[in-house]
Amino acid sequence: MSTAVVTNGEVGSAQGFERYTFVERLVHWAVAFTFIALMLSGFALGYPRMAFLSGLFGGGQTMRFLHPWFGVVFTLGIVWMLVSWAREMRMNDGDRAWVRNMKTYAGSGHSGLDVGKYNAGQKGYYWFSIIFGLVLLVSGLPLWYPWMLGSGLNQIARLLHHAAFLLMIGGFIIHVYMSTVMFPGTLSAMTTGRVSRAWAAWHHPAWFRVQDRRKSGASR
Ligand code: HEM
Repeated sequence: MSTAVVTNGEVGSAQGFERYTFVERLVHWAVAFTFIALMLSGFALGYPRMAFLSGLFGGGQTMRFLHPWFGVVFTLGIVWMLVSWAREMRMNDGDRAWVRNMKTYAGSGHSGLDVGKYNAGQKGYYWFSIIFGLVLLVSGLPLWYPWMLGSGLNQIARLLHHAAFLLMIGGFIIHVYMSTVMFPGTLSAMTTGRVSRAWAAWHHPAWFRVQDRRKSGASR
């Protein structure tokens, strides 16, 4: 195990480590905001009782026009994440041990394992978002251009689009809850780009040691 300072992981000092660059945060928030717009307009399009949400987008016609374009920006962000983060998100033996220890993690927020920059849950959410983000694109294109496929296949595309939509919303709720309420100190990673030493040592001890060595090497 690490020499980690054991705390509850809350943000402490102004010092700490950079976790995300400006570009990484910009792309993440573009994905997050377009996802929220897609979710709200998707509800209005898919559920007559929620049609009132179209008011947020200037009415039904404008919303119908905007929804696929939000999807285009969302997909560009997802593809950027795929190209830029895939290497760090590869699963390894440590991740398999984390999955076996998931009960402990769910109970205490700590798996007791020497986790690197991402734990297996985060890596899982990443691959989940990439796969279902691409399913949304592939199934959304024939809904945008209905002449692309026959009406039978269009029905299948509609079903796939809706299933991916609901699954992504479930994942999104868990992701937002975990990165804000469940683990205080995490949100700053995506706002200021930095996390405290205590947060890093508690949640990602192996990553903490690398950052700490790098920092003390630089200050020597
Ligand atoms: C308001 C909405 C959102 C909030 C508050 C939020 C917050 C965060 C935070 C704080 C992190 C850093 C976690 C860390 O480094 O330990 C993060 C990472 C990440 N976010 Fe989000 N996020 C949101 C929406 C989304 C959406 C819609 C997606 C994709 C569809 C997404 C995908 C990711 C991925 C792949 C990571 C890196 C791996 C991970 O931590 O799971 N986020 N997010």
